[in-house]
Amino acid sequence: MYNKEMQESMKKVAANRAENAALEPRRMTAEEKDTLLATYHPDYKQDQFATLQIGPNKGEKVPLELADLLQAHSRINTKDINLDKVDYDVDVLIIGGGGAGASAAIEADNNGASCMIVTKLRIGDANTMMAEGGIQAADKENDSPAQHYIDAFGGGHFAAKPELLYKLVNDAPEAIQWLNDLGVEFDKAPDGTMITTHGGGTSRKRMHAAKDYSGAEIMRTLRDEVQNRQIPVVDFTAAIELIKDTEGKVAGAVLLNMETDEILIAKAKTVIIATGGAGRLHYQGFPTSNHYGATADGLVLGYRAGAKLLYADTLQYHPTGAAYPEQIFGALVTEKVRSLGAKLVNVNGEVFMHPLETRDVSAASIIRECSTNGNGVHTDDGVGVWLDTPMIELKGGEGTIEKRIPAMMRMFGKYGIDIRKEPILVYPTLHYQNGGLDIKADGMTEVENLYVAGEAVGGIHGRNRLMGNSLLDVIVFGRNAGKHASEKSKSVDVADLTLSHVDSFEAEIKDAGIETETVSPKLLPDYTRKVNNK
Ligand code: FUM
Repeated sequence: MYNKEMQESMKKVAANRAENAALEPRRMTAEEKDTLLATYHPDYKQDQFATLQIGPNKGEKVPLELADLLQAHSRINTKDINLDKVDYDVDVLIIGGGGAGASAAIEADNNGASCMIVTKLRIGDANTMMAEGGIQAADKENDSPAQHYIDAFGGGHFAAKPELLYKLVNDAPEAIQWLNDLGVEFDKAPDGTMITTHGGGTSRKRMHAAKDYSGAEIMRTLRDEVQNRQIPVVDFTAAIELIKDTEGKVAGAVLLNMETDEILIAKAKTVIIATGGAGRLHYQGFPTSNHYGATADGLVLGYRAGAKLLYADTLQYHPTGAAYPEQIFGALVTEKVRSLGAKLVNVNGEVFMHPLETRDVSAASIIRECSTNGNGVHTDDGVGVWLDTPMIELKGGEGTIEKRIPAMMRMFGKYGIDIRKEPILVYPTLHYQNGGLDIKADGMTEVENLYVAGEAVGGIHGRNRLMGNSLLDVIVFGRNAGKHASEKSKSVDVADLTLSHVDSFEAEIKDAGIETETVSPKLLPDYTRKVNNK
């Protein structure tokens, strides 16, 4: 199955394995990192970005694919929508059924609010479910939230919004305890203490995990909790426009039943956008580790309603997406593989970087190795570098892989690759949107009664996120939004409903001379094969 180049290279990797495993590669200097990122990281490819001509971020750059959606037509003709016929009326409407949406719902329910989750797929079809390596929290003796803050602030190029990052790290230990109490099966030592590991850019071992399916375990628990509380979940139903009231406050959403095409109206005192990421927009043609519905819908809904974006020009390309076999192209190979001792090795069997540099630096190093340096390993239709997984057992002993990263072992095992004996081929994959909607520490945007949580938020991590801080932000800011939105709902009087902001946005498109046939939000990716451009 491996071609000749791969087979020859694998022999070199095996021959160098013991020596490479013992190596302590040096960390890059700040100057080296800056030069590397500017030359190889996809965020720096200026021709892949467009300047927005309308909306709250007019004049700022965002990826081409996102600009197309942000400056697109609405899916509805407002004249056809009857806002007098309300199908759902709740205190808190939560758009999105992933970890942030579920956490928000649980806290809103705790606060006595009536709440409802709408999700275009099913509850749990979300990037939370896809998360593997773990969730950070500084809850060990040798660690502190301050240390966690410093790691994340530096890793994010000192761009994180201080009040958001402060909240993230300070609420982290309690978030772990909350999940543990709900029933998440974290990895624990025989004495009951949590097992923690390093991630890229962490100065302490603070990654809590449930083997290498941490997200699935967390999502399983949250979904159970939502269902046990009988919180209403309307699935296969997408939010396609926010509704405001005549005082300019957000007051619900226009929904589309994805199975029947029926339009429904949800009225609410407060709304939480928890729609997740954008990997399925495949920026710059990258494959993605994201779930099927990750199409930046929340950014579009919020933007059209007047909410500002923050850092929408910065994406995370996870360094180790599967590059072979092609059936799993772009699937996540957790950073935990490197935390446990595997190193990145080029076609000549050489280690070319420290395995736990931050993600942007690691991804750029791999791209450099595969392009300018000509040190990539070529498959029949792609390129990558080796992640030398057998090193894990050299370091941790036989059985470590099966015990700590069984999902990885199974994913590659399906294709006849035994990662205990053979390295795996990897290349960066589109993993996370660092940017999103701008919020204050209470989770609300500048638009009254519109809250955001999870990956749809921008600014928590700055311009690069460390491993394990996303599962954490989903929990911390999901709960936070649920608490604040439900509290706020107690004092909200909704005036008459209106979609005039949708009409105003349409007028802006026209006035700016934007000619487009695109409608948004996108809702689902389009993988139909185009023949002769049709
Ligand atoms: O590598 C991983 O397991 C991914 C973790 C994350 O994005 O936080």
